[in-house]
Amino acid sequence: MIVLGIESSCDETAAAVVQDGHILRSNVVATSLDLHAVYGGVVPEIAARSHIESIIPVITQALEQAACDWQDIDAIAVTYGGGLGGSLLIGVLTARTLAITKGKPLYAVNHVEGHVYANFLTDTTLEGYVLPAKQPEFPMLALAVSGKHSELILFRNHFDYQLLGETCDDAVGEAFDKVAKMIGLPYPGGPNVSKKAAEGNQHAFMFPKAKMAGKYDFSFSGLKTAVLRTAQLQIGEDHTFPSIGLPERLNEAQKADIAASFECSAIETLVDKTLLAYEEFKPRSVVIAGGVAANQELRRQLADRLPLPIAYTDPKLCTDNGAMIATLGCFKANLDPKKVADPYLLDIVSNLSM
Ligand code: KG4
Ligand code: ZN
Repeated sequence: MIVLGIESSCDETAAAVVQDGHILRSNVVATSLDLHAVYGGVVPEIAARSHIESIIPVITQALEQAACDWQDIDAIAVTYGGGLGGSLLIGVLTARTLAITKGKPLYAVNHVEGHVYANFLTDTTLEGYVLPAKQPEFPMLALAVSGKHSELILFRNHFDYQLLGETCDDAVGEAFDKVAKMIGLPYPGGPNVSKKAAEGNQHAFMFPKAKMAGKYDFSFSGLKTAVLRTAQLQIGEDHTFPSIGLPERLNEAQKADIAASFECSAIETLVDKTLLAYEEFKPRSVVIAGGVAANQELRRQLADRLPLPIAYTDPKLCTDNGAMIATLGCFKANLDPKKVADPYLLDIVSNLSM
């Protein structure tokens, strides 16, 4: 079973070929990140236009890298939600057209569920990837953390899952991105906050952890405000001082301490709840997924506190990519082939949840 996966839900145009749900044969990602960096965040219209330009070259390159031609491809999988409407449309319309013209079955994939399936890749024909030695076992607890999601999901089996909790406001990746902006670090904030944090003291500031009614729910907007208030205090100003003026008034040591204390506190919240869910549900495996899963502090804290070893996937497969979509596509095509999508009707669902 060889599946072509297509992903275009945000600013990455991505395609990949995966064989039998575990062999990564190609992974091509074109990002419009540079075009958005000047605005400090993703501009939906720019993302959509850039997908139009990139999608065919990216798919062509993914087939070439996998040494495949169209007759080798058994199915196409595509992200149909959630994400930016204009961005999703380009991927879905391309996948629908290819499914019809090349005569391939089409599978519709939920973006967050796809992120989790990056952890099922264990082998590759490509250089430069470090993958887990074996696939995760069920029941599997997944922490999905990205720029739009912070979710704890319990998978009893493939396609049989329960959302245990989610964020009530900002996603954790969004908090990283906004804190980066406050202290003058470039977009995307996550990796840059992490880099700056390495120079700072995690205990310089005590940031609050939100107490939620839902045992497994998250909230990061209070933490973000606490970071803002701390930064304002550091330069001797009150809460009326605009965040846009902070970067030039904070010195490098203050920025590093804010980044380190914020990162430590945000990650601790994620790990606290993951541990709580681990103790209640006693899963046979725990996986992390989504852009924030690339974070080294998250990996360090989990390794320290979770009684179960985690096999992490390559950071390149944590941020948006086509391989995760192709992998889940393989499982759908193999285990649930009747769920094939109608290539004449498949629509996007921007606000799709788990
Ligand atoms: O999964 P992803 O590529 O796109 C979404 O589905 O949102 O995740 C992007 C998010 C961004 O918020 C980015 O700042 C964050 O993941 N991110 C990180 C790291 N790398 C990416 N956050 C913390 N540490 C990182 N190393
Ligand atoms: Zn994502």
